[in-house]
Amino acid sequence: MDSKQDTDKKEIVLTGDRATGALHLGHYVGSLKQRVDLQAIHEQTILVADMQGLTDNAHNPRKVSSNILNVVADYLAVGIDPSKTTICLQSQLPALAELTMYYSNLVTISRLERNPTVKSEIQNKGFERSIPAGFLTYPISQAADITGFNATLVPVGDDQLPMLEQTNEIVRKVNTIAGRIVLNECRPLLSNASRLPSTDGKNKMSKSMSNAINLGATEKEISAAIKSIYTDPNHLRVEDPGNIKGNVVFTYLDAFHPDENYISQLKEHYQSGGLGDGTTKKILEECLQDMLRPIREKRTEFLHDKAQLVDILVKGSQISRDKTEKVLFDVKDIFGLNIL
Ligand code: TRP
Repeated sequence: MDSKQDTDKKEIVLTGDRATGALHLGHYVGSLKQRVDLQAIHEQTILVADMQGLTDNAHNPRKVSSNILNVVADYLAVGIDPSKTTICLQSQLPALAELTMYYSNLVTISRLERNPTVKSEIQNKGFERSIPAGFLTYPISQAADITGFNATLVPVGDDQLPMLEQTNEIVRKVNTIAGRIVLNECRPLLSNASRLPSTDGKNKMSKSMSNAINLGATEKEISAAIKSIYTDPNHLRVEDPGNIKGNVVFTYLDAFHPDENYISQLKEHYQSGGLGDGTTKKILEECLQDMLRPIREKRTEFLHDKAQLVDILVKGSQISRDKTEKVLFDVKDIFGLNIL
């Protein structure tokens, strides 16, 4: 985003989130802040991926349906502005499902099984013996999401890179069949923030784990999360030197505290001894409470007016329907299907 070339040329930016849970601090630092910046420069669409959410939750659909408006409220609360960013709902865009069908003919099962993200998700979800077809093929649906908008730039976490690779393979196949460029290849935009660890330091922060701090977390929930946060287990007495590596308090302070100099002094103090975890946690707590208070308040306000949230999705989906139908027409044309 900072190179001259990128700011000169308006990109078509498309990104999305599975609507399977409220968004958390990891999303905030890893992608939401970046989207707020991108909306000022490029043509940005954010897709609330409810259909993709169902690929592993079809037996518990409320997990998806009950989170759609929460996710939209999260977007608005952090400053994503629906007059600059189109926010739409995947299931309202039938062209995406149709594109998925056409693209399915261009992708082999073994290629899907080799997708590293799908592979590890299959393991984590215990799907090894019976994989829902929709789950195995969600990379194709994601390719439809991206190409349906003819996106050139896709902000994602590194776990999503295999999806973009598969998307570009499909794009090249479609363009080869067409004998000309019909679809754009896309580039990933990785955020500079490395993925935030969960409060126990064991994993990346994730919607499906309990050790996340949600953007809508109450003051009490934030306090409780910080009390149990992972620090240096060998730092037993205040006067002992402490280790900052893997110490989640410092990872979060690095990510969220506005005063870098202060944090580097704090780290030195901690490493040389004489600084207790109670104190560092207190500093982190104050920082996170201050940061999340206005976000939580806005989020609550937005959730009080559900009709407004629905209206944003209706309008965004209408705009997106037009765009995706145009791409669908072009793809059907390649296969000679626009004869009626
Ligand atoms: N797979 C993404 C995730 O799990 C969500 C997503 C769906 C997406 N469609 C997309 C991301 C298109 C980028 C572009 O978070």
